Formats: sequence, C-alpha cells, structure tokens
Amino acid sequence: MMTDQERYSRTAMFLHWVMAILLITLFGLGWYMVDLPKGSDERSWFFALHKSIGLTMALLALIRLAWRFTHAPPALPEFITGFKRQLAGLIHWLLYLAMFIQPVSGYISSSFSGYKTKIWGLPLPHWGWKSPVLNEIFTDIHVASSITLLCLIVIHLGGVIIHVCRGEVSILRRMIPARK
Ligand code: HEM
Ligand code: HEM
Repeated sequence: MMTDQERYSRTAMFLHWVMAILLITLFGLGWYMVDLPKGSDERSWFFALHKSIGLTMALLALIRLAWRFTHAPPALPEFITGFKRQLAGLIHWLLYLAMFIQPVSGYISSSFSGYKTKIWGLPLPHWGWKSPVLNEIFTDIHVASSITLLCLIVIHLGGVIIHVCRGEVSILRRMIPARK
C-alpha cells in the first residue's frame, strides 16, 4: 500500500487535474475558434470564452507555483533512475514555465487587438492599443508556445504511459487520491 508521503498533496492533485482538463479544453477551443468566420457573433463568443478560461488558468498557475515553492513534492520512485530523474524534473519545470508564457502571450496579443479584454464579462484595465503588428507578433508567440506546450505534454504523458505499461503503476497513483 502506498503511504501518503509517497503521494502528492490533495491540493497539488486538485490543481494538476483541474488544469489538465482546462488545458485540453483551451486547445480544443483555440483550434476551433480560429476557423470561425471573422466578425461573426459565434467567433466573438468563443474568443471571449477562450480568453476567460485562459486567464483563469494564469491565476491557477500562480497559485500552483506558489504551492509548489512552499510544498516539496514526494520523492520520485526508485525505478526512475539516472538521467530520467533529471528529464522528469526538467519537463516539469518547462511545463510550469509554459503555463505562464501561454496565457501571458495570449493576453498581450489581445491587448493589441483593439478590443477590451474581459474575464468572465468583467473588463480588465485596457493598457494596450490597436496594433496589427504587435498583435501578430504575440499571436505568433502564442501559437508557437502552444505547440511547444503540446510537445511537453506528449513527453510528460509518454513517460507516465511507459511506466504504467511496465507495471510501474505507482507513478500514476502518486497523482491520484487514495481510496478510503
Ligand atoms: C493556458 C492557456 C491558453 C492556452 C493553452 C491557449 C491555447 C491556444 C491555442 C491552441 C490557440 C490556437 C492557435 C492556432 O491558431 O493554432 C489559441 C488561440 C488564441 N488564443 Fe489562446 N490559449 C491560452 C490562453 C489565452 C489567453 C489568456 C488569451 C487572451 C486573453 C488567449 C487568446 C487567444 C487568441 C486571441 C487566439 C487566436 C489567435 C489568432 O487569431 O490566430 N489565449 N490559444
Ligand atoms: C491528462 C494527462 C496527464 C497525466 C496522465 C498526468 C500524470 C501525471 C503524473 C502521474 C504526475 C506525477 C509524476 C511524478 O511522480 O512526479 C504528474 C506530474 C506533473 N504533471 Fe501531469 N499529467 C497529465 C497532464 C498534465 C498537463 C496537461 C500538465 C501541464 C499543465 C501537467 C503538469 C504536471 C507537472 C508540472 C507535474 C509535476 C508536479 C511537480 O512535481 O511539481 N500534467 N502528472
């Protein structure tokens, strides 16, 4: 039986899974909405939803990072050896970094779109101005970082799947609450 010391805390698990679900949702929304006809109500609605969920993600990422700095994660299981320890750590930190670059680039690009950025209907301070050039630069960063983030997630998931297939299921159980 796995002890609680070998598991992530409930807060870490909650943030991990809520953010994983929201992230998948944001990818789906992002890819879908960019093909909607420009100027349509549908496009504005999906853009507003994507921005609201994306900005919520930025807040959750801040909470998560603060939590991570104040709560050490459980030690990695023994079967993760050598360079794989470093690789797992590196991918985790790159994932944390991407959790910020992704929403921040989206927010900056939106600030130069000429529209006020809102979160769940509430307007945020509008410091930007209409600049097609800046809008495009930050949109390019947003798209490039989304591809990078996707690659990181694939590597992250690949690592978990490889261990689970080898029967080393405890790697996954660390992130799943214990049954009472
Ligand atoms: C973690 C959070 C986020 C993720 C994972 C994400 C992901 C994506 C993806 C996958 C796309 C489609 C890119 C493509 O064309 O291939 C996209 C587009 C876009 N996102 Fe985000 N996004 C996030 C946060 C935000 C935020 C916070 C904003 C603004 C406040 C935002 C604004 C936009 C805009 C305006 C586009 C359309 C870009 C265009 O016109 O091509 N995103 N996002
Ligand atoms: C949906 C598929 C996913 C699965 C099955 C999964 C599984 C896991 C597991 C089992 C761990 C614990 C690994 C360990 O022992 O250190 C973990 C840690 C982690 N996951 Fe995921 N994950 C998924 C998606 C994501 C996504 C989308 C992100 C990015 C936001 C993410 C970010 C992280 C981070 C940063 C850690 C390390 C936490 C730390 O020690 O600081 N995961 N994941």
